[in-house]
Amino acid sequence: MPPSPLTTSSPPLKVADRVASGPSSEVRQIFQTALKRTGIISFANGSPYLGELPFHQLADDAHRIVTEFGSTALQYGASNGIPELRRHIVDLMAIEGVAADPEQVIVTAGSQQALGFAAHATINPGDVVFAESPSYAGAMAVFAAYEAEIVHVPGDRDGLIPAEFECLVRVAWAAGKLPRMLYTVPNFQNPGGMNLSAERRILLGRICQEQGLLLFEDNPYGLLGFDGATMRAIQPDAPDITFYFGSFSKMFAPGLRLGWLLAPEALHQPLTDIAQTAALNPSVFNQLLLTAYLDGPSWRDTLARYRGLYRAKLEALVGALTEHMPAGTTWDLPAGGFYLWVTVPQGIDTHELVHEAIERGVAYVPGTAIYTNGAGRSELRLSFCLPSVEEIRDGAAILGRLFSEALA
Ligand SMILES: Cc1ncc(COP(=O)(O)O)c(C=O)c1O
Repeated sequence: MPPSPLTTSSPPLKVADRVASGPSSEVRQIFQTALKRTGIISFANGSPYLGELPFHQLADDAHRIVTEFGSTALQYGASNGIPELRRHIVDLMAIEGVAADPEQVIVTAGSQQALGFAAHATINPGDVVFAESPSYAGAMAVFAAYEAEIVHVPGDRDGLIPAEFECLVRVAWAAGKLPRMLYTVPNFQNPGGMNLSAERRILLGRICQEQGLLLFEDNPYGLLGFDGATMRAIQPDAPDITFYFGSFSKMFAPGLRLGWLLAPEALHQPLTDIAQTAALNPSVFNQLLLTAYLDGPSWRDTLARYRGLYRAKLEALVGALTEHMPAGTTWDLPAGGFYLWVTVPQGIDTHELVHEAIERGVAYVPGTAIYTNGAGRSELRLSFCLPSVEEIRDGAAILGRLFSEALA
């Protein structure tokens, strides 16, 4: 029997073209390798330290939720999330000046899923997405999956430079491309640690409005400034074009997989439809557990303790790096968040050395995993929240030795 044209030209196990051309996440691979090895000190994963959470209180809440509300908690639910949680989300966003109605909020399985929904709704192949340089690898992977062209915009300690952004948008228009959106992490950015200044927030929103772009404001770290100060979000000054993304992963626990999306009003319904098609609804049980936590007073104290703890861990890291890293290593101190972005002297290739570092018991994210254009061999991201102070000191000493040997 002759082979079917279908099976010869399109073997059934061949993935779709857009999947084949997508990036394989270097961060994810390093993260997986680090997870498999026991005793590894990981500066690689952007995971919070959970040891301060009130586990007994959460266990009591979980017990109560199942025994008293089991037939609701374990049932399907509304595709945009339970109203009690959406009300808390509105209160949280109000801290940063966002005025929203709970009906406008869509609860998702983490902000990563929300980014996927928003990208699905807005990006066509070839659209240009502008992002910080460097930017969050997980978002870059989403935009690449929707076949966007990613353009990194130069920045400094105050974040993206608006004039550079405007210039790049004009270049894209002139080249016949469609500049579609600016993606930014304005607070304690992943991976750079910088904060977008108040002035630039307003300017960038204005440029997006004038140039006809959307703005994706991704804000998982806004409440994690070491001094507890918060900044006004971009959304209030550009509500018609801004998608605001929030997360409970960094301020509470990523294991519940809960985040949210506030879309421009005109796009709320399509986004709700996308959420329903993709996931039906976020876990009702997890939402009830989170709501119980937010109903009580303790989460504010817990968050305050985390801020102090994370500041102390960053200080330990910087102290140990100062002691052990080769001369010429530099970094800018973040005022909050999870990440220290480090630049090492020429002659050290952080991409080449990452596997040897894991052999010696330390994982980090090389800059190449963050940029989409092969840059970043002299840079690395160190996440300081999860390891203990002792592990941080030991890990920095191991890295210092490895990098010094590479220079010798
Ligand atoms: C900037 C940024 N956005 C989104 C996410 C995804 O977070 P979530 O756990 O809410 O999906 C992360 C996680 O590291 C992040 O750093």
